[in-house]
Amino acid sequence: MNIPFNELRSGYLAYQTEIDEAVHRVLESGWYILGRETMTFEEEFAAYCGAAGCVGVNSGTDALYLALRACGVGPGDEVITVSHTAVATVAAIRMSGATPVLVDIDPDTYTMSPNALADAMSPATRAVIPVHLYGHAADMAAICEIAATCFVIEDCAQAHGARYQGRPVGGFGNLACYSFYPTKNLGALGDGGAVTGNDAALLGKVRLLREYGWTPQERYVSHVEGVNSRLDEVQAAILRVRLRHLDADNEARRQLASLYSALLPDLLKKPVEREHCHHVYHLYVVQYPERDRLRARLAAQGIGAGIHYPTPVHLQPAYQAGQVRTTALPVTEQAAREVLSLPLHPTLGEAQARTVVQAVVAALQ
Ligand SMILES: Cc1ncc(COP(=O)(O)O)c(C=O)c1O
Repeated sequence: MNIPFNELRSGYLAYQTEIDEAVHRVLESGWYILGRETMTFEEEFAAYCGAAGCVGVNSGTDALYLALRACGVGPGDEVITVSHTAVATVAAIRMSGATPVLVDIDPDTYTMSPNALADAMSPATRAVIPVHLYGHAADMAAICEIAATCFVIEDCAQAHGARYQGRPVGGFGNLACYSFYPTKNLGALGDGGAVTGNDAALLGKVRLLREYGWTPQERYVSHVEGVNSRLDEVQAAILRVRLRHLDADNEARRQLASLYSALLPDLLKKPVEREHCHHVYHLYVVQYPERDRLRARLAAQGIGAGIHYPTPVHLQPAYQAGQVRTTALPVTEQAAREVLSLPLHPTLGEAQARTVVQAVVAALQ
């Protein structure tokens, strides 16, 4: 038996006819960057998220960086986020020139602890970036209340379609940032990202910043110091196809997750879905003290499992020279030692999921 952790090709094959048609349409159009496909995707994705607007950019990291810039965050400011996240969240803060302040997480949802946030708030705090990790929303009611004096930028890179208190994530802060990296719930076949929001002025700034500060009316006039972070037409056309299937794909993830949660032994700490939250299981993450042994035993049976993430950002070699500020992060460090992501994607069949369960049971013996 061989069940890899992920299978991106099967995700393409599931919608091959539609994706091929979309790519062909762009190739034939003769227009490859920031055109009709990108504009239409921006409208469709904003509508999906229940947001007033969307700006397509070329990665989730850039989405966070440009959102911070649009909020005026820069050198001398502090931005609070978590250490238990993709390094991208912290890299984007560093790109803005601000100092990342990393706080601990809730042990059940692995998202920002509101108490830890409250302790870290200071007069220098200019923005807070909660991460909706693994597909589960952070506690936005508490976070927005604590962070009422500064900007809240939601990192939704792992949470396309997730909901909190009945509303899509991304609608609680000032801006929301998405990645369309191929493994994401809404994945392109290359790099891509977006910023969504309801504040037209902030979104307008992101739009200016993504292409050298130019406006559509005045190309080659840089009104602000911007960058090149454009979403290309091929990726936008592919994303339009995938967006049509996102709810069905998320439902397939949820079905597999509920099968795992019903059948996996209680020796493992399993994911929780908090009341009033809709989890979209970007990852199905269990926790187990002897994680490395479990992972090796799964690998010996042909089952691929991932670790998200093995080293928290504050312990990464690149961040040891005062680049980030932090206090003790015991929950984060325990999670890094113990979390394990089991195979879960929309094309994983129920039979394969049952095989994974059997392999886990055998590995725990
Ligand atoms: C939580 C989180 N934030 C930000 C990013 C950055 O996205 P990208 O890889 O598109 O730059 C990712 C994905 O890698 C992510 O998982």
